[in-house]
Amino acid sequence: MTDRKYADICIVGGAGHVGLPMALSFASAGSRVQIYDINEETLATIAAGKMPFVDDGADEYLRHALDNDRLTLTSDPADITPTGVLVITIGTPVDEFLNPSHGEVKSAIDTLLPYITDEHLIVLRSTLYPGTTDWLHRYLEDCGRKTRVSFCPERSVQGRAIKELAELPQIVSGTSAAAITEAKQFFMPVVPEIVELPPLEAEFVKLFDNSYRYIEFAIANQFFMVADQAGADYSKVHFGMTYGYDRARHMPRPGFTAGPCLFKDTMQIAAFARNQFSLGNSAMLVNEGLVLYVIEKIAAKFDLANVTVGLLGMAFKAESDDIRASLSYKMKKHLMMRAKNVLTTDPYVLNDPALSPLDGVIEQSDVLVVCAPHSDYRGMDVKGKPVFDVWNHITKPISADVTKGMA
Ligand SMILES: NC(=O)c1ccc[n+]([C@@H]2O[C@H](COP(=O)([O-])OP(=O)(O)OC[C@H]3O[C@@H](n4cnc5c(N)ncnc54)[C@H](O)[C@@H]3O)[C@@H](O)[C@H]2O)c1
Repeated sequence: MTDRKYADICIVGGAGHVGLPMALSFASAGSRVQIYDINEETLATIAAGKMPFVDDGADEYLRHALDNDRLTLTSDPADITPTGVLVITIGTPVDEFLNPSHGEVKSAIDTLLPYITDEHLIVLRSTLYPGTTDWLHRYLEDCGRKTRVSFCPERSVQGRAIKELAELPQIVSGTSAAAITEAKQFFMPVVPEIVELPPLEAEFVKLFDNSYRYIEFAIANQFFMVADQAGADYSKVHFGMTYGYDRARHMPRPGFTAGPCLFKDTMQIAAFARNQFSLGNSAMLVNEGLVLYVIEKIAAKFDLANVTVGLLGMAFKAESDDIRASLSYKMKKHLMMRAKNVLTTDPYVLNDPALSPLDGVIEQSDVLVVCAPHSDYRGMDVKGKPVFDVWNHITKPISADVTKGMA
């Protein structure tokens, strides 16, 4: 993995869910793209022409990029192209105390610093704690660099990054006029529209977009629990609320709200607002609490200690292979302490050796729980087993994709 070439773009963290689809989109538009990533195993998978995760249309883009020699891969920072655009797409998590973990961006930049030149435009694309873009500008200046710094957030839904890059307006911000001009030129060929904002406002846009979704789902989940506890059929309530009633038209349906972005971005705002983001914190209690609510529902009907529970769908959302921050695993962890046995299955997930085939899980379980509403489960024969299905997915199939828009 030491292929050194001048490239138009180097994507740092380019083997990840944001970086790789972006690399493929730009390669498809004719750019020479370099992926720099510390995960050598994933780089090897990509070099072999195999997508390491599902993204709509990506397999074909990858083949095309490799066949046309538009993609190079490296894990050596010394290989990064000395000119062009450095796009940063590394993970920006919260720590075990739900505080933002600032170390990742600084440590990635420090590793690259000897190779960062004044010819580079840095495009920060990871979701950032407010103020990070200005911090990086100052940091590079203190290190004697004239590198331009911009923040242009990724806002696509996980699994549709290639498609949505070409569909969504691109927020562009920069710490200087030159940075903004260069970032606009960079994105212009691949995005439909550009929205220019100052860096702090752009950082808030990304965090607030995700947090807004998280709170929306929490409203749906809380309504569900209130109605369900009272013995009401919430699917009927939801239908009544939304049918022909435009003001409630966007009301999501209940479901496990998880994944690598919504929760942690809401917590980034909570930390930034000195833990005064009460709506965000309440949303977290509701969304995380839905899993425990379902467990209590099962416990109210069955003697859990004598019951094998089968969990259907371990990915964090429908039609995805991504188990990062999936609430299915929270449910598994809690049930392991209380149930006789817990079996798990998922048609998409390939990196969990504990999974079993669907038929066996249905056969051997006393109770089933729909954790991710994969389309394979819609209307399937559950062999008379009781099903706990907050999505209302198996028993009364729904027409809309309930997870549409979850990131
Ligand atoms: N997944 C999404 O759909 C999505 C959508 C919008 C925004 N985001 C944001 O984008 C960022 C990346 O998310 P992701 O889902 O792609 O994460 P990911 O874990 O899939 O990818 C991150 C990649 O960065 C690599 N990496 C980590 N540290 C590195 C370093 N120091 N140098 C080089 N490579 C390094 C990892 O090996 C990995 O391949 C996060 O800030 C996330 O919040 C994600």
